[in-house]
Amino acid sequence: MSFKDQIDPKKLPQHLAVIMDGNGRWAKQQGKFRTFGHEKGTKAVREITEACAEINIPYLTLYAFSTENWNRPRLEVELLMKLLVSSLKKEIKTLQDNNIKLNAIGNLEALPKKAQRELEEVIDKTKENNRMMLTLALSYGSREEITKTIQEISHKVKNNLISPGDIDEEIIQKHLYTQNLPDVDLLIRTSGEQRISNFLLWQIAYAELYFTDILWPDYTKNHLFEAIVNYQNRERRFGKTSEQLS
Ligand code: FPP
Repeated sequence: MSFKDQIDPKKLPQHLAVIMDGNGRWAKQQGKFRTFGHEKGTKAVREITEACAEINIPYLTLYAFSTENWNRPRLEVELLMKLLVSSLKKEIKTLQDNNIKLNAIGNLEALPKKAQRELEEVIDKTKENNRMMLTLALSYGSREEITKTIQEISHKVKNNLISPGDIDEEIIQKHLYTQNLPDVDLLIRTSGEQRISNFLLWQIAYAELYFTDILWPDYTKNHLFEAIVNYQNRERRFGKTSEQLS
C-alpha cells in the first residue's frame, strides 16, 4: 500500500511546519552554485503545497528566510529575494487553482520594497480562499517575535489597558505573528540537521518533530506522505498517561 493510501484522513495534522534545509548542499553535490539549489527548492515548495492541499491539511507554514539568513553573502540574499518575487508572480495561479490563502509572518518591513509589494498583492488577491492557509516565514525569528510580543504587552500594561495578572498564554498567543494559526502539530526538517533554528519556539511546544536526511530540493509528495504516516503512528499524550488517553 502506498504511503498516501495509509493516511487516516481523521488524524491529519492541522498545522504542518517545515524547515526547508539542504538547498546549498544539494547544489554542491551537482557541482553547481548554491543559488541553483534555491531555484530547485522553489519546485519542492510547490509540490509540498499541492500535496497538503490534496490531503486537506489546513495550515502549512514554511521557513523560507530567517532573521539570521540576512548574514549570508549579499548575492545569495539578493537571489533569494528575487526568487521570492518571481515565485509569487508565478505561483499565484497555483494558489488560486487550489483555493489557497497566502499569509506571511516575520519582520516583513525588513524585506526589499518590491518583495513587500508583491507579497501584499498576492495576500490580498488570495484573501477569500479557504481550503488551506500557506504561511511563509520571511525574515522570521522566534526570539524576535517573542521580544516584540513582550514589548507590545508591556505597552498595554503601562497604559493601564491590562494588568500584569491578566497576562496569560492566550494573550501572548494573540500578540504573536501566528495569532491566526493553531499550534504546530508536526514539524519536519529536511537535510539531516536536527535542530529548530529559532523557528516557532512557542508554537511547537507539543509538536511532533520529524527529521529526514532528504535534501529539500529532492523532497517529494511521497516523502511528505511517509512523514504523515509516521506522525499518525505516534501517541500524542500532551502530558497525560497512555491509560488516560484510551
Ligand atoms: C535552506 O537551505 C534554505 C533556505 C535558507 C531558503 C529556502 C528557500 C527556498 C526553498 C526557495 C525560495 C522559497 C520561496 C517560498 C519562494 P540552505 O541554503 O541552508 O542549504 P545548506 O544547509 O545545504 O547550505
